[in-house]
Amino acid sequence: MSDDLAPHEKLLPYTRSIRGPDFLDVGCGFGGLTIALAEAFPTKVALGLEIREQVTEYVGRKIVYLRHAHANGSEVSAEAERAALGEKPQEEEEAGEAKECQEEYNDGNGKGPEEKTMAEREQDVAQRKENEGSPLEKDEETELSSEQKTQQHHFHNAGVFRTNVMKTLNNYISDHSLEKMFFCFPDPNFKKKTWKRRIINDEYLKMYARALKIGGRLYTVTDVLDLHNWMYGFLSKSAQFKEVAGTREEIEKNDKCVRLIKTTTEEGSKVTRLGRFGHAMHWAVFERVDREGEAAAAATE
Ligand SMILES: C[S@@+](CC[C@H](N)C(=O)[O-])C[C@H]1O[C@@H](n2cnc3c(N)ncnc32)[C@H](O)[C@@H]1O
Repeated sequence: MSDDLAPHEKLLPYTRSIRGPDFLDVGCGFGGLTIALAEAFPTKVALGLEIREQVTEYVGRKIVYLRHAHANGSEVSAEAERAALGEKPQEEEEAGEAKECQEEYNDGNGKGPEEKTMAEREQDVAQRKENEGSPLEKDEETELSSEQKTQQHHFHNAGVFRTNVMKTLNNYISDHSLEKMFFCFPDPNFKKKTWKRRIINDEYLKMYARALKIGGRLYTVTDVLDLHNWMYGFLSKSAQFKEVAGTREEIEKNDKCVRLIKTTTEEGSKVTRLGRFGHAMHWAVFERVDREGEAAAAATE
């Protein structure tokens, strides 16, 4: 990699943005949400973090491909897209928790996550905007400069990085810099002896709280009810987080990310199509609260 690149660019080889990420897709898998976030929030930088090397490389190629395809205005077939991306990593790849994820969570049909063509993606975005444009979405659209529109179409606001989030997050994400963190369909680690590997617990929440801005949001979604209860339990007890107020319907209506975590993640698609644990997706949205909030929460304990 060139020495002319800023340290940030060396660290995030698929991100040409000169600033750090606003959104983190933790355990991004094949990157569906990371890419959807970049499309839906053209002025923000979305970064996917993934532990599996080949999967990370694949998502990187996909982002680079999307940039080129958008820059050239090319309409491509699913076949052409597959050819451009190369072989998709197999689900059975070995990598610690990821291997366990495959063993315990694999649907076993050998079929990869749904791939969409450029035309289908653009259609999805147009449809989403038509159906459910929130006030935020409309504001962002009208406020876009031509430079930002170019960025939107070139996917320069999407990136991916290989890491073990649980070990290294605070090494490269500045304190209180993130607006949103996503934990979508994390590895369930069903067996009791592996619960310590679950991606949310008291210790890890402190790390995530440090990375999030005050008022930033943390999203979880899973089809495993036990895992949802586990994550919800730690989050609702944490002095650094509070659940976003409102009914489920209100939260979903006011925050388009709730729809995105269910509809654009590869695992969410599988739940819709296959429903191994039923078709329900259990989700939660928590907000990072400030110091006074922490003190007040602590005082009521
Ligand atoms: C079940 S998959 C979900 C993928 C994606 N979020 C989705 O919803 O489609 C969980 C992903 O988390 C990744 N993962 C597990 N532990 C991780 C860690 N400590 N750091 C980064 N990624 C991790 C796995 O490799 C796997 O791709």
